[in-house]
Amino acid sequence: MAIARQAARKSNRQVCGAGCDDVRERAAPLGASRTGSFEQLKMITNKQSGTSVHEIAEGIFRISTPVAMDGGGFMFNQFFIVDEEPLLFHTGPRKLFPLVREAVAAILPVGKLRYISLSHVEADECGSLNEWLAAAPQAVPLCGFVAALVSISDLADRAPRAMADGERISLGKHSVRWLDTPHLPHAWECGFLMEEKTKTLLCGDLFTQGGSDLPPVTESDILGPSEAFRRPMDYFSHTKNVGALIEKLAVLNPTTLACMHGSSWRGDGARLLRALGDALAS
Ligand SMILES: [Fe+2]
Ligand SMILES: [Fe+2]
Repeated sequence: MAIARQAARKSNRQVCGAGCDDVRERAAPLGASRTGSFEQLKMITNKQSGTSVHEIAEGIFRISTPVAMDGGGFMFNQFFIVDEEPLLFHTGPRKLFPLVREAVAAILPVGKLRYISLSHVEADECGSLNEWLAAAPQAVPLCGFVAALVSISDLADRAPRAMADGERISLGKHSVRWLDTPHLPHAWECGFLMEEKTKTLLCGDLFTQGGSDLPPVTESDILGPSEAFRRPMDYFSHTKNVGALIEKLAVLNPTTLACMHGSSWRGDGARLLRALGDALAS
């Protein structure tokens, strides 16, 4: 975290004009608090929208914006891994770009970003990809081979770094492994990133929960709420390979599931993934 802390110190001076010791101290003027087994950072970065940042695992920050929708609210979450080569997993929809950028900048100067990553090609996953590439001159899109081949090589203003199934990239202290999961939950190009240091699975649209006021992290059941959301909307692809793909993720034994919509979850990730596989098969 040394580079992150140096960057945060610099950024803090720019924003608050005070010499703060590290990224967590920088949060104090913004109303941050510290809890948990590590020095966990959480703060509101935009009072009007309610956009917030919460450190869900060491060096992994969840950026979350609640939105009002017919029939209840919804949450758009992005995950920011702060390291020597900082990585943002999902950009958020294009209209949320100013809020997500503001949240990233509260942690680290945006120009430090190295990877803008995505699970699959939809607006909330990569709608503001080109805005991010413009804001971060050293950054490249990071995605699976299929996404690079079919969409990102054309859509993005900078060539992507395409990852093979199972390929690992070191970010410094953290490392991420790309897992192809075609059509799970949807899109041929779909895949996820497993952060190996913290055993955090950046699981995209899996376990999507409706609602806009859910806690950042929970150890309570999220399968029931996510199934209640999935069943009427039917946004999974019905791939016949679901069992094998779920098992491919379960054997990684994640202890944190970083969900794109709703709360992140801590616990026995293999057990919860297999329970999802059972629900999808029934
Ligand atoms: Fe999606
Ligand atoms: Fe999504």
